[in-house]
Amino acid sequence: MDSALRVTADEAKNYVLLTGATGLVGQYLLRDLLSAGLKLAVLVRPKRKETAEDRIERILQKWEAESGESLPRPVILAGDVSEANFGFSDTQLDWVKHHCDRMIHNAAILKFHASTRQEEPWQTNLSGTRHAIEIAEKAGIKELHYMSTAYVCGNRNSTILESDFDDSHGFRNAYEHSKYEAEKLVRSAKQLDSVTIYRPVVISGDSQTGYTSTYHGLYVYLRLFSMFVPEQARDEHGKILTPVKIPLDGDEPRNVVPVDWIANVFCEIFQNTAAHGRTYHLAPKTCLTPSVVIEACYEYFNSQGAEFCGSNIPSDHQHSDFAEKIFDNIAIYQQYESNDPHFDTANLEQFAGHLACPEIDSATIHRYLDFGNADEWGKKRPLKLVKPDVQERRA
Ligand SMILES: NC(=O)c1ccc[n+]([C@@H]2O[C@H](COP(=O)([O-])OP(=O)(O)OC[C@H]3O[C@@H](n4cnc5c(N)ncnc54)[C@H](OP(=O)(O)O)[C@@H]3O)[C@@H](O)[C@H]2O)c1
Repeated sequence: MDSALRVTADEAKNYVLLTGATGLVGQYLLRDLLSAGLKLAVLVRPKRKETAEDRIERILQKWEAESGESLPRPVILAGDVSEANFGFSDTQLDWVKHHCDRMIHNAAILKFHASTRQEEPWQTNLSGTRHAIEIAEKAGIKELHYMSTAYVCGNRNSTILESDFDDSHGFRNAYEHSKYEAEKLVRSAKQLDSVTIYRPVVISGDSQTGYTSTYHGLYVYLRLFSMFVPEQARDEHGKILTPVKIPLDGDEPRNVVPVDWIANVFCEIFQNTAAHGRTYHLAPKTCLTPSVVIEACYEYFNSQGAEFCGSNIPSDHQHSDFAEKIFDNIAIYQQYESNDPHFDTANLEQFAGHLACPEIDSATIHRYLDFGNADEWGKKRPLKLVKPDVQERRA
């Protein structure tokens, strides 16, 4: 693989090094940055049964099949951000040094719990970001674009400004904490000339196709409803009955945005040097609410029976079996249910305000449910990879 990485003295140093290209956000960045004509090098972990090259080829073939247009291929660098130097060989490192002038560090592990900092998500999120900064220094890369999260704000729930950055309120979990510490490293990396920080809120699937490659956040709820609602009893009109008292008012704002918008906004800011050097909350103007999700599910499943009770559920209330099944499976997200801050988006408005965030409405949620069901909620076997004819591609 290294033999393909030839350093040619006359080639310009104009590649962008992208991490996390196989993830939900990364797949869209890959598509949109390649479509925009940028030259990319991607760091990818090989899997036991699939090489780094095949993993990227599979993603690109999916995009090409969807759009009917061919995309250029990026340079593939097999590696792992949690290893020193990203686990790069000397040849890989030398290639990066001679070809890359910008880095997008997007790889992360979205795991909430860790007993120690020797575990994930710390290794990838914090050590991985330290390694990204070190690689940048070794390779003479001076421009870094870092994918953080809006939830580096931790337990705060007032209005959060894009300039806010402190840990005084503590964190809900190791993921938030590790991303906070990683952003801190990025902010203090003095050898970089330009650091742009993107802080998305919760990311959902494609607003148009419903596509997703990961099933956390909103999808945990949608998957549970898909599993358990159809098996409940029906009333005399055929409506499925889902008795559940929900300890929410129903209108609590939820910061959720579709992945296609995240990539769109990212590319807009990335390609505008005047926008660099700032921090951006990638947050919606109109938030999703639990009642929109429940109404969308009522329509989708032809069901009824959820009741928003706020804090008025008696402590001795006997939940239905259906309710128990749902509550048992969402415990990990309960820390996010009671509140979600308001994320101020002044910088975003200034540089990408014209890119309206698609609202996640009933129709979007139906697309998410359709996609999740068709994909068996991530369990469906991927299509066989069509091995590209290298000669044909070169010609
Ligand atoms: N999803 C959200 O709701 C959300 C919200 C706010 C911010 N973010 C941020 O957005 C970024 C992308 O998230 P995502 O939703 O696209 O996550 P994702 O779908 O889980 O993708 C994570 C990506 O990181 C890669 N990665 C993880 N550990 C790695 C390692 N040790 N070495 C190399 N690559 C590694 C994964 O590679 P493999 O395919 O090999 O696993 C994958 O490409 C992250 O920085 C995340 O913190 C996400």
